[in-house]
Amino acid sequence: MTTPTTAWRGQASLKCLARSEETVDCASFIFAAPEACSVDFLPGQFVCLGASIGGQLKMRAYSIASDVADRQHFRVAVRRVPGGLISNWLLDHVQPGVCVEALAPAGEFHLDPARHLAADAPRHIALFSAGCGITPMMSMTFWLLDKVPGAHIHFFHSARDEASLIFAGETSRLAREHANFHLYRFLSRPQRPQECFSRRVDSGAVCRLLPAGEAVEAYLCGPQAYMDQLGEALRAHGIPASSIHSESFFTPEVGEGQGAGCAEASTHAINLPDFGRELQITGEELLLDALEREGLPIIGACRSGVCGSCRCKVLDGQAQSSTSGPLSPADIEAGYVLACSTLAQGDLKLSLG
Ligand SMILES: Cc1cc2nc3c(=O)[nH]c(=O)nc-3n(C[C@H](O)[C@H](O)[C@H](O)COP(=O)(O)OP(=O)(O)OC[C@H]3O[C@@H](n4cnc5c(N)ncnc54)[C@H](O)[C@@H]3O)c2cc1C
Ligand code: FES
Repeated sequence: MTTPTTAWRGQASLKCLARSEETVDCASFIFAAPEACSVDFLPGQFVCLGASIGGQLKMRAYSIASDVADRQHFRVAVRRVPGGLISNWLLDHVQPGVCVEALAPAGEFHLDPARHLAADAPRHIALFSAGCGITPMMSMTFWLLDKVPGAHIHFFHSARDEASLIFAGETSRLAREHANFHLYRFLSRPQRPQECFSRRVDSGAVCRLLPAGEAVEAYLCGPQAYMDQLGEALRAHGIPASSIHSESFFTPEVGEGQGAGCAEASTHAINLPDFGRELQITGEELLLDALEREGLPIIGACRSGVCGSCRCKVLDGQAQSSTSGPLSPADIEAGYVLACSTLAQGDLKLSLG
């Protein structure tokens, strides 16, 4: 069978081909590429997956945890979130044969192939993850092992105990088969402390396990506090900030002076000429929340300003955004904003999409 040359773009309905229980609250899923299309992504990028719930399409971002070389399938791992809408829906409903709605791969957190293939590329790559933050590190690892065999991959992974390790068998196998894949597990409550680091990863571990005085490129994915602490430790170890890349899976707190709890709860009108609708929004409510509340067709897949699915255009009025992530300067100039990170500062006229 020949590989299709048309890269998947936009929204598609994808069939689940396989499911594996990784831990008690996490499963991995393999999906087929849309018919006659290939799945093209950079190691570290995510897809958005979801379903129509209560008559509205809801999506969330999931990092791809498989090898970019397989353009016919991709794998994600989903962890249960207490009270979570989409992650729990996926875990409760998706089995082989079930289709889910998906948006093509996207995201700015990824390896830069040109940089890692250059003659002066860093020889040491440090991948730090906690919990399900391991997913983008898997696709990065597969790519590095294949394309940069001379690189040392320092794979730091933090979890509570052995039973909460996602992709445990696979990472152990990689460590056995590849001398340049260095696996460091940090478990806060291990059953077998002699087989791991029985504590949280900290600056002491960074100093002891990463070479000093050599170029290191670091990628971090986990809770914000974990990444802040490690970022500091890596900089103290001499790694420049420009070589430290991070991604958070958690919706960031709405920034200072924005969102719930900020000063005035003034109410503004949002006019949507394309739908002949007008709705009310307070100065504390994100545009995305107000549009979803009114059942308007907007997708808030990552809710973190990274995927661009909630892009909309301010035709008239003032809005304040805390991030513009995937928007180009031309988009911003044209009035596009991300509804998941934008507040109205007065009456607005808005166009979706
Ligand atoms: C770029 C990116 C990549 C991601 N990759 C993965 C992945 O590989 N695997 C994966 O399982 N998830 C991943 N996520 C997180 C995922 O997209 C969802 O945000 C998360 O699963 C919660 O969605 P939900 O609909 O289940 O919960 P929601 O209904 O959106 O939220 C329910 C409640 O849980 C809280 N909450 C939201 N996210 C989390 C979280 N991650 N942990 C704890 N509490 C949370 C919310 O504040 C809210 O109170 C990624 C997120 C981003 C932005
Ligand atoms: S929902 Fe992803 S950028 Fe807004």
